[in-house]
Amino acid sequence: MKKLSARRRHPLAAVVVLLFALAVTGGLYAAFAPAESAKADDTAQSLAIEEGKKLYSVGCASCHGTGGQGTSDGPSLVGVGAAAVDFQVATGRMPLQQQGAQAPRKKAIYTQAEIDQLAAYIASLGAGPSVPTKNQYSPDGADIAKGGELFRTNCAQCHNFVGKGGALSNGKYAPSLEGVNPKHIYEAMQTGPQNMPSFPDTTMSEQNKKDIVAYLDTVNSDKTKSPGGLELGGLGPVSEGLFAWVFGLGALIAVAIWVAAHTAKAKKS
Ligand code: HEC
Ligand code: HEC
Repeated sequence: MKKLSARRRHPLAAVVVLLFALAVTGGLYAAFAPAESAKADDTAQSLAIEEGKKLYSVGCASCHGTGGQGTSDGPSLVGVGAAAVDFQVATGRMPLQQQGAQAPRKKAIYTQAEIDQLAAYIASLGAGPSVPTKNQYSPDGADIAKGGELFRTNCAQCHNFVGKGGALSNGKYAPSLEGVNPKHIYEAMQTGPQNMPSFPDTTMSEQNKKDIVAYLDTVNSDKTKSPGGLELGGLGPVSEGLFAWVFGLGALIAVAIWVAAHTAKAKKS
């Protein structure tokens, strides 16, 4: 008994009690707070869907149908996912202004906040790829050389070796990828806009998509733009081959002429 009361009066007793009380409050908070914030997230989400639905009715429903089921003027958007909406609207392709061979890239007319709402609404109609997180498309932890290899095997046939773009049949074209936001590159691979095939995670892993995004970031940044001086157009084997032929062969011929001239001189003297 004596021992206990002595301990109670120990100078650290107050500190121990305080720490214990803090731990209990912390624990209680931890137990209840997540539920609260999850509820807040839910309401934010349903608000976004509601706002998105309003924007959709005004700007998109005429072509894509009132419930996103599609009309003769636009395909169904059920199941295309938030990533497709973010890509199409943020790159200004949607809303489409006139029917043509291909919806071109334009200045975006919606703010990012509105695009997020539109995307939330379309995502609520059916599951599809969600907008990638920054971590998924940032170059951190990417293998750029691997990205270059993947780009040459999967994308270069349409977009050219360094992503400068190229023509396809019937007035369609694969656009240049220079200056395209990494997020939109990732989304294009997820969703395969128009004539582009899609590269879902099952055929191309998240890491491989990250590698490709990092590769494009590198070829498009100024750091790596032709460190040797004049660039040859980056058009691949044709222009670079021509360069080799004209200047390489030219140099060989010059040497041959020089040698011939000198042997001729040597013979004369
Ligand atoms: C004038 C008609 C028209 C309007 C308005 C329009 N779209 Fe489209 N949309 C199309 C057509 C046609 C396509 C398919 C062909 C294409 O991409 O060019 C399409 C394609 C899409 C796709 C790609 C679907 C897929 O399978 O990946 C998305 C996403 C989309 N639209 C969203 C929207 C949103 C959001 C709006 C409103 C902000 C909108 N569209 C307004 C006609 C329209
Ligand atoms: C069969 C040809 C083809 C292949 C293969 C292809 N693309 Fe595309 N790509 C296209 C076409 C066509 C478009 C234009 C679609 C549009 O305007 O909606 C496009 C658009 C894009 C865009 C959007 C550019 C912009 O201006 O907003 C990106 C980014 C892109 N492709 C990246 C890739 C990557 C990365 C790969 C390889 C993993 C790839 N593409 C493979 C044909 C192709």
